[in-house]
Amino acid sequence: MRKNGIIIAIDGPAGGGKSSVGKIVAEKIGYKFISSGKMYRAIAWLCVKKEVNIDDEEKVLEIARTNPISFKENSGVEPLLLISNTVLDKELYDENIAAATSKIARMLNLRNFLVEEQRRLGRDGGIIMEGRDITTNVFPDAELKIYLDASAQARAERRVAQLREKGMEANYREILDMIIKRDEQDAKRKHNPLKKSEDSHYIDSTNMKKEDVVNLILKLYEQTLSKIKK
Ligand code: C5P
Repeated sequence: MRKNGIIIAIDGPAGGGKSSVGKIVAEKIGYKFISSGKMYRAIAWLCVKKEVNIDDEEKVLEIARTNPISFKENSGVEPLLLISNTVLDKELYDENIAAATSKIARMLNLRNFLVEEQRRLGRDGGIIMEGRDITTNVFPDAELKIYLDASAQARAERRVAQLREKGMEANYREILDMIIKRDEQDAKRKHNPLKKSEDSHYIDSTNMKKEDVVNLILKLYEQTLSKIKK
């Protein structure tokens, strides 16, 4: 066992519920929660803000290197994300940032830079980290690995609801198209594409309630702990 518990790694496509489910599970078991996508989004956000050409790999990497991402403890399970002392959250979820994020996420040097930070954050365990390559690349040795899937339609519906809840405008058709495009970009890219690792538990949440997904993960967590203790 690691110092603070195990590592729960969750991968899956956009809008599959990795964050909302992951945060609830983290709260129930007293773990920290990290969305690795937020780190890619933060770099994309800063590139857009500084009008850096997001096709220029060197410039994007320089932005990441010179504007370190940090996390600050928060009252909840998810630490606040800061980049150059600016707390970022809601602004990272604009769809134009999502599109820029998928572009920069193809860059190997940037990925390696962020993966190092992700490994540092999680190595002592007691953490749930979600993303696209957490089970396959960031923590191939995670004690519990989950691939959380759902149909593109179900995911688009959820994303619309999530954005509206945050007080943002959302159009179902546009979101569905963007989700399909982003899935394709994430699954077909050369470096660390989204894919299910052989040892991940596959959960298709298309017709599942959020609580049922939470309970299933809690059950897998308990099973993992008892296996480790044996
Ligand atoms: O999870 P989220 O939708 O916030 O991630 C935004 C984008 O960041 C993804 O579409 C993907 O391109 C990229 N990403 C990644 N690897 C991760 C997490 C996110 O490439 N581990």
